[in-house]
Parts: sequence; C-alpha cells; structure tokens
Amino acid sequence: MPTTPTDHRLAALAPALESAGQAHLIPWCEGLEASARDRLLDQLAELDLPLLARLSGGGGDESAASGDLEPPETVDATDAAALERRAAGEAMLAAGKVAAFTVAGGQGTRLGWNGPKGTFPSTIVTGKPLFRVFAEQILATQDRFAPSEPIPWYVMTSPANDADTQAFFRDNNRFGLAPGQVFFLVQGTMPSVDFEGRVLLESPDSLCLNPDGHGGSLRALRRSGALEEMTARGIEQISYFQVDNPLVRILDPLFLGFHAADPRSSGEMSGKMVAKRDAGEKVGVFCRRGGRTTVVEYSDLPKELAEASDAQGRLRFRAGNIAVHAISVDFAMRLTEEGAEIGLPFHRAIKKVPHLDLATGAIVAPAEPNAIKFETFVFDAMPLAKRALVMETSRLEEFAPIKNATGEDSAESSRQAQSDRAASWLEARGVKVARHADGHAAARIEIEPRTALCAADLATRPLPDRIDPGSEVVI
Ligand code: UD1
Repeated sequence: MPTTPTDHRLAALAPALESAGQAHLIPWCEGLEASARDRLLDQLAELDLPLLARLSGGGGDESAASGDLEPPETVDATDAAALERRAAGEAMLAAGKVAAFTVAGGQGTRLGWNGPKGTFPSTIVTGKPLFRVFAEQILATQDRFAPSEPIPWYVMTSPANDADTQAFFRDNNRFGLAPGQVFFLVQGTMPSVDFEGRVLLESPDSLCLNPDGHGGSLRALRRSGALEEMTARGIEQISYFQVDNPLVRILDPLFLGFHAADPRSSGEMSGKMVAKRDAGEKVGVFCRRGGRTTVVEYSDLPKELAEASDAQGRLRFRAGNIAVHAISVDFAMRLTEEGAEIGLPFHRAIKKVPHLDLATGAIVAPAEPNAIKFETFVFDAMPLAKRALVMETSRLEEFAPIKNATGEDSAESSRQAQSDRAASWLEARGVKVARHADGHAAARIEIEPRTALCAADLATRPLPDRIDPGSEVVI
C-alpha cells in the first residue's frame, strides 16, 4: 500500500510505465530512498511514454521512407533571376526580417574537443573560435545593411553544454554583439534504451538522456517563446546553420532571396548544396521523392544509388547537404502548433552507452554498442514545405566543416580550405599568391569576416601585391 507522497507518485505512474514496457523501473524506484526516488520520478514524469513505446516496439526506423528517389532541381548564382533575388535578400536584411540561428547542441564526440564545439579554435592564423566567426559575420552583415535593430542570433544548446556555452559568450563579451542580441535556448532530450526498449539509467536517480537531434530545434524555438518573439520583432525568416563550419555564409542575401522571393520556392524551407566530393562522402543528399524535396542521410542512401552516375558522368545523387537552411517563422509555427504538432520522424542510432546495471548497481562501460538513441533531423521538415528550393553553391566558398580529429573534415583540412578560399579571393583582386604544386595555397591566409564576406568585398581594401610561400597573413 502506498503510504508516503512519493509512494503515491510511483503508484500513479506505474501503469503507464508498465504499458510502455518500462516495468523494470518500478522495483528499482521502490528500492530508492524518497529524495532519490523523487528525482527519478521527476524525469520519468517528463517522458512521452506512449512515444517511447511506439519507437522501442516498432523495430523499424521511422525515417526509413520508401519510394523512388530522383535528383532534385537546383538553382545557383548563374540563374537568370540571381540578380533580382540577391536584391530581394538584401532588402530583407535591411528591413530586419531575418534572424540567425545556430544549432550547437551536439555532443561533438568525433572531434574529441573538451567543451562546446563552438568554442573550438577554428581559423588558420588567429585561431578564432567558431562562435566568434559567426558573431563577426553577423556584425559585418549588420554594418552593411544597417537594419534599425541588431540582427538577433538564436543559439540552441543542449542540457549538457548550455552553461559552458553561455559562460563562453559572457567571458568573451558576446564577441562585440549588443546586450540582448543573443538568445540561448536549450534543446529537448530523449532517453537512450537497450535493445529491448528499456530505458537505461546513468546513475541511481537519473536516466541516460541524449539530445533529441537538431530536428528538436523547431520545437525548442517554439517552447522557448523564440518564435513568438521573432514574430513580435517583425522577423519573417530564420537563417539556420550548424556550429561546425567556419566557411559557412550565414545571412546570405542570394540564398534568402531565392528562398523568399522565387516562384520555385514556397518560402517555407530551402537548403544549400555542394557537389559531393565522391560517392563515399559523409553528407546527406537532397533528392525528390513523391514530388517532394527531401534529404536522404548518407547512412540511409543505398550504395548503388550513392555510386550511380548521370549522363554527364557526374554522381547522379551529387546534391550534398551542407546543413544550411532558410526557414520561415510561419512554417516553424505551423509545424509546432500546440495540439497539432507535426512530428518529424525519429531516426535510430546504435551506440555504446555507459549505464547502471540494475542487477548489480554498478556502472557498465560497454565494449560493444548496447543502446539505441532516438533523434529527429531538421531536414525532414523539407518535404512538409509546399515547394522546397535547393541552391547549389561552391564547396571552396562555403563548406569546410570541422567534424573529425584528423583526416577529412578535420581542423587541419578546414584550415587549408580557409587559406585556399582566401587565396582565390585575393587572386581575383590581382594579388599574386604562392601555391603548392597540388594547387593548395602555400601560405596561411586568414580574411576576417569584418574585412570581407565575399571576394567582391575586397575591392575597396588595400591589399598586398603578393603573398610569399610559408608566410602568415591576416587581412
Ligand atoms: C550533418 C547532416 C548531414 C550533412 C552534414 C553537413 C545530420 C543527421 N546529418 O551530418 O546530412 O550533410 O551535417 O556537414 O545532421 N546538433 C544539435 N543537437 C543534436 C544533434 C546535433 O544541435 O541533438 C547539431 C550539432 O551541434 C551540429 C549539427 O547539429 O552543429 C550536426 O550534427 P552531427 O551529428 O555532427 O551531423 P553530421 O553527421 O555531421
């Protein structure tokens, strides 16, 4: 018989736990002393148990959609409408209709950096952290288009890195951004489960929780009040980007213009692509399926499709997703409407998750994958848009992410790409830049965002005549 308030809480929750396949937690909770039990019950009460039962019981990946895949239609800077679209994007920025939004809640396990990824020293000469690179782009965009209010920047963190992220912004005086210009929102979490669908505990009174994927960003924008706030400020579009790419061009007028003012787009959600480096590159690809634009993640694209070529001998599915989107505030509102929330499908990832063994009470560090993590992906919202547009851009200009400690997509490869881009901008202005035989820049060159956001911005800057091999230059 329940006697204490915590006994009553447990008794009230027990049927729901049982029907969601979580009965193993009931005797465990009974064995805990009252305050520890309350802490665990607080977490359990927050879980969406029917959802968990569906995901754990279903066996399949909710994201494994079927249907024939076709390459998408794309637009690029050579499109006949490009000039007009750029002007439309510039007008949106000048009118203060765009906010910047970074998803920075990931765990960054592959990089092995002890801290939020945005604090990683990314640039080739001055070692600017990623967050500073983005802040300076926002400042440069603001200088150029002079909106009446500073451009708001929303940064999504996770429960694990929120405090460190906010402290980093404080310690760096928000990189020169105005007080009240940066907003933090914490993304949601999902419990990790074992292969029988039972939730795992990280300690006697807490669950193993993982961030719910960047698809959770739309819900986090809604729950935190950010979408309402954007509407109140007259913001119509969100410039979405990941934390890992120091070459990203955020608040890009050309992209914003195509997204919001082109008849091929419904102005709800667009994405940027670069041609895949090779069939095995670990990027998702934009595709058409059932008349809708979608992204198929690299791990889900069948090998024969990944390797197929088109009539010109290029990869047939070459539209690599660089995870840069424009999303309208109205669309984000529609998808997250209270009561009618349009859920994005959950993807499953099989991982090694250290956890508490309920039989022995000891922490187990598994040698083999033992658990399933559930995540949603923001690009799964694209097929929900009436007409989603994909814009092709150049890898050299916009994509050199830092994901791995070494090799491809590492800090080293990204820094070389930064120098290569800087070299091409300088050469376009007549500067003689030393290059290696393999074509890479032979000097370490950094062009700061406040100096130039693109090659054309260098036109009015004093530049050196030449850059010698082995030199180190900041412009
Ligand atoms: C991602 C894309 C891939 C794309 C590539 C481009 C996914 C599933 N795939 O791959 O299609 O081609 O980037 O670089 O995203 N994040 C959160 N919260 C989370 C999980 C992630 O904020 O719960 C953020 C991370 O901080 C990071 C971004 O999302 O900024 C990407 O996450 P990651 O898991 O590293 O994706 P990739 O495998 O690199």
